[in-house]
Amino acid sequence: MEKWALITGSSSGIGKAISYELAKKNYSIILHGRNTEILHSIAADIEDCYKVQTKVINVDLSEDNAIETILTLTEYQNIEVLVNNAGFGVAGAYNATDIEAELKMVKVHVTAPMYLIKSFANKMKNNGKGHILNVSSLYSYFSVPKQAIYGASKAFQHSFSKALNEELKTQGIHVSSLCPGLTYSKFRTRQGKKEKKYLIGMTSEEVAKIAVKGLFKKKVSIVPGIFNKFMAFTIPKLPDRLALVIIHKMNKGRGF
Ligand SMILES: NC(=O)c1ccc[n+]([C@@H]2O[C@H](COP(=O)([O-])OP(=O)(O)OC[C@H]3O[C@@H](n4cnc5c(N)ncnc54)[C@H](OP(=O)(O)O)[C@@H]3O)[C@@H](O)[C@H]2O)c1
Repeated sequence: MEKWALITGSSSGIGKAISYELAKKNYSIILHGRNTEILHSIAADIEDCYKVQTKVINVDLSEDNAIETILTLTEYQNIEVLVNNAGFGVAGAYNATDIEAELKMVKVHVTAPMYLIKSFANKMKNNGKGHILNVSSLYSYFSVPKQAIYGASKAFQHSFSKALNEELKTQGIHVSSLCPGLTYSKFRTRQGKKEKKYLIGMTSEEVAKIAVKGLFKKKVSIVPGIFNKFMAFTIPKLPDRLALVIIHKMNKGRGF
């Protein structure tokens, strides 16, 4: 039977790069996003390069019927890998940010993965195998002034992933949390920021390679890059007051 991977938010950045990595491993790919034209051009390229099947789903995950649509459109695919990657940032002081944008972000980062996992984990359980990758963030390791809700939603994904892995691993289902730091993609330009080059930055392709390798090694937490590993190890060990000052300063330095 054809094995499929569903990657949410695969029209650009990390999700797109993960789709190519999974296609290389002979998975047929379900691409998802909101830009049909881009999704179809990626699908055609993947089919051409890797001779796998593709399918495109255009759904806004912050809309009410989103999950129902995805489940209907994937009814006949044997999905062995689910990647909850779609996401975006809302930055700024909490008393100045747009609550509607933040609520949409919570739907995309928290509610949608909850529903998708509830459904696909049960299907995977019936098949006795499956992999789920939740794209969280380095920010899941500490609180993030000026991106308070973004950071909290990523901490939710990370905590949820680890607990879920423990529950599901005996059923052959492995859940990994990917925690990238600064990665070049459309993430910052969507927020109206210029994409500057940083010494600590990684490309989406570098992150995706590490993510897919970690996923199949059944790693629970995947932190790509030396700098990000250092931050994930060190910052949580600092006194809260100091950690918050450092992260606040870093965010200010990046124009948030
Ligand atoms: N870049 C970083 O520095 C960084 C660091 C840590 C974690 N992350 C996480 O990595 C994930 C991927 O982000 P990226 O950096 O690759 O950014 P990106 O290039 O902007 O990609 C985001 C993807 O999510 C999709 N998406 C956003 N909102 C959506 C919605 N409402 N409904 C459906 N799809 C939606 C976009 O699809 P359309 O454009 O087609 O709608 C796009 O495919 C996110 O979860 C982000 O939080 C990024």
